Amino acid sequence: MINDVQYFNTLRCNCFCGFCSARNCKSEEWLQNEAKPSDIAEALVRSKNIADDVYFWIAGGEPFLMRNLEDIVIPVLKKYSKSRVAIFTNGTDPKELERFAKAIPTELRPRVFVRVSIDGLPQVHNSRRRHKRAYELALESLKISHDNGLDVNVNTIVFPDVVSGFEQFQSEIARCGDGRANIECSVNWVDTVIGDKFPYSDEEILSIAPIVTPRGWTLKYLTSKGDMCLKDCQAAQTNCAIAPNGDLYTCYAAKFERNQDGFCMGNILRSGFDTVWNNRNRYGALDNVCDCIGCMNPSDMDREVRNGNFDYSLSYSEIEKYFYYFKETEYYEGFGDCELHEDGTSHRWLTSESGRVICRPLSLEKGGGTYLSISFGNMLPDSLERPPMLCSISVNDKPMLNDCWVSSREDLKFWVEPSKDGYITVAINVNQLWSPKEVFGSADTRMLGIAMFSVDVR
Ligand SMILES: C[S@@+](CC[C@H](N)C(=O)[O-])C[C@H]1O[C@@H](n2cnc3c(N)ncnc32)[C@H](O)[C@@H]1O
Ligand code: SF4
Ligand code: SF4
Repeated sequence: MINDVQYFNTLRCNCFCGFCSARNCKSEEWLQNEAKPSDIAEALVRSKNIADDVYFWIAGGEPFLMRNLEDIVIPVLKKYSKSRVAIFTNGTDPKELERFAKAIPTELRPRVFVRVSIDGLPQVHNSRRRHKRAYELALESLKISHDNGLDVNVNTIVFPDVVSGFEQFQSEIARCGDGRANIECSVNWVDTVIGDKFPYSDEEILSIAPIVTPRGWTLKYLTSKGDMCLKDCQAAQTNCAIAPNGDLYTCYAAKFERNQDGFCMGNILRSGFDTVWNNRNRYGALDNVCDCIGCMNPSDMDREVRNGNFDYSLSYSEIEKYFYYFKETEYYEGFGDCELHEDGTSHRWLTSESGRVICRPLSLEKGGGTYLSISFGNMLPDSLERPPMLCSISVNDKPMLNDCWVSSREDLKFWVEPSKDGYITVAINVNQLWSPKEVFGSADTRMLGIAMFSVDVR
């Protein structure tokens, strides 16, 4: 079933951002032939191939240059009861946004997620967007979305000149939340298309590093300086992208970024969504997916990471860069973000059955070794009728623990010797993952292994 649909309702825009990833796809055909949102909606709600929890994105161009977006948003939310609709906007038309918000029935509004792009304080943002009032209007759009009960956040593309005013920028954004709820600011790097020059120098990455959270494939993107690529992907198996004229594509990047032919599966207005999805042309397009030269598109990368098909692990030289840019001493792979506790301690969850922690000792004892201290624990109560949590640990491929039972807190210390390159690689395997939703009935659906409190080689 399809759980990810991207709809590019218009490619027109009233801003002219030099970094815009949609810049390559302004074809005459799409600029001249924009379908009505209500027609696209009709094609979508008739489909039997779209999942109830579909994530429906609307982006462009500037989506709100087209009126009546509610004509597609309401039918999608009503038909697909667990769906969410995300609209990416530069926020330069707060009046239209307000009209749109009020047209959405109140009970559906929390499932509408408005992502307003703001790239920093007015001087930075207005010059990036090449629009004199972009900042002031975007802030008004934020308030309006928030006050009318839409879910909202800010999407910031980060450049070095954002850094000095960044705290002020974040507090201005937070104030739009009116004290009731903070509006989150998601800070992202400029993505490039294969063949583009990597947009940051070493010095720029160093200056930006303090305000971003490096994780997942974006960390690979930075530390490899854009030398990575998604290939052999599963495009058009659980996702698709709709062009302004109703043409259905396997993915965003192949056509919209690279303008490459052979990825169109048909037109959903002429033939109906399911006819296109089950048509011979789709299988032709899928052949082209298999032969695709690849892409670096964020939404496609995210999908492939979710389905476990994209390996974004870092090489040792990339890990070295990570330590340098982010002033870190350990690199965690297969673990979630660091979670802070009230008493100042922290932990990271192992989020797959195996993970690695790679560190480089700053100094070695006589004899070339060092002590490795490692603290971890099993957070599942003993009273649960579950098989015991077992864990194996090896250091630089040398087994240290083999299928040992894990209590709520284990503090171990080993004498270890670094590899030839100077690294200590701690590999951890567990026999099971559990989800807080399943065990405690919470809303947290993550799959977790053990909690890692610290790994230290000093
Ligand atoms: C292509 S825009 C379309 C929607 C709308 N016009 C806007 O700017 O929000 C969608 C989002 O992608 C971001 N974006 C555009 N080009 C990008 C790039 N090269 N790297 C990262 N994000 C980019 C924009 O800032 C925006 O948040
Ligand atoms: S406002 Fe959005 S669509 Fe328009 S040029 Fe900028 S990034 Fe591209
Ligand atoms: S790798 Fe190719 S087929 Fe897959 S999402 Fe990227 S452009 Fe599309």
